[in-house]
Amino acid sequence: AKRSSVPAKLLHWYDANARILPWRARPCEAADPYRVWLSEVMLQQTTVAAVTPRFREWTARWPTIDALAAATDAEIMAAWAGLGYYARARNLVKAARAVAHDHGGRFPATEAGLRALPGLGAYTAAAVAAIAFGERAVVVDANVERVVARLFAIDTPLPAARPAIRAAADTITPDVRAGDFAQAMMDLGATICTPRRPRCLLCPLREDCRAFAAGDPERLPVKAAK
Ligand code: ADE
Repeated sequence: AKRSSVPAKLLHWYDANARILPWRARPCEAADPYRVWLSEVMLQQTTVAAVTPRFREWTARWPTIDALAAATDAEIMAAWAGLGYYARARNLVKAARAVAHDHGGRFPATEAGLRALPGLGAYTAAAVAAIAFGERAVVVDANVERVVARLFAIDTPLPAARPAIRAAADTITPDVRAGDFAQAMMDLGATICTPRRPRCLLCPLREDCRAFAAGDPERLPVKAAK
């Protein structure tokens, strides 16, 4: 199959198999940048299962970025308890206040604009730009890294492989539905293209996957010896 069919196949799979998660918009509904940003920050070092109830509680208490910006540091730090990596919560407060006070309560709508907010790294800016604003950003987290390393049989060890993985991800990122594409890659990595025992027979990209063809998807990505 042609590589150009990868995004079409993946989006078709996503339309039938997307996980239902509270920060995702329903079909034909616009994603809320505040909810997308909050979920991406919460998901940085915490699992989807652990984040889901905490995300619901958080957004019930602070439904908008302006509401969050008006909360005290102590309230926010207490609400973050148990999610770990408290630097994330401190950056969250700073970014919320920057959006509320310097941007009129509206998130910048581009990857570059988002990247300029406190605590928004390359990953978060790309994810929010794609998922909330539909920008064609290349979104690479650990799940996507694994899917791409296998699809293209990139066997350079991590972290040296990162530039090649990003370049390969760029070649399959579509101009339309970039946010769905990013989340489809994440869902594929979480449910099918898993670190151990990937479920290749269920994979919509099996025919395009060089690691499947070589018979060794589980070997990738290669990690540098410690
Ligand atoms: N992990 C990080 N961001 C995610 C998202 N938007 N959907 C699913 N898993 C994720």
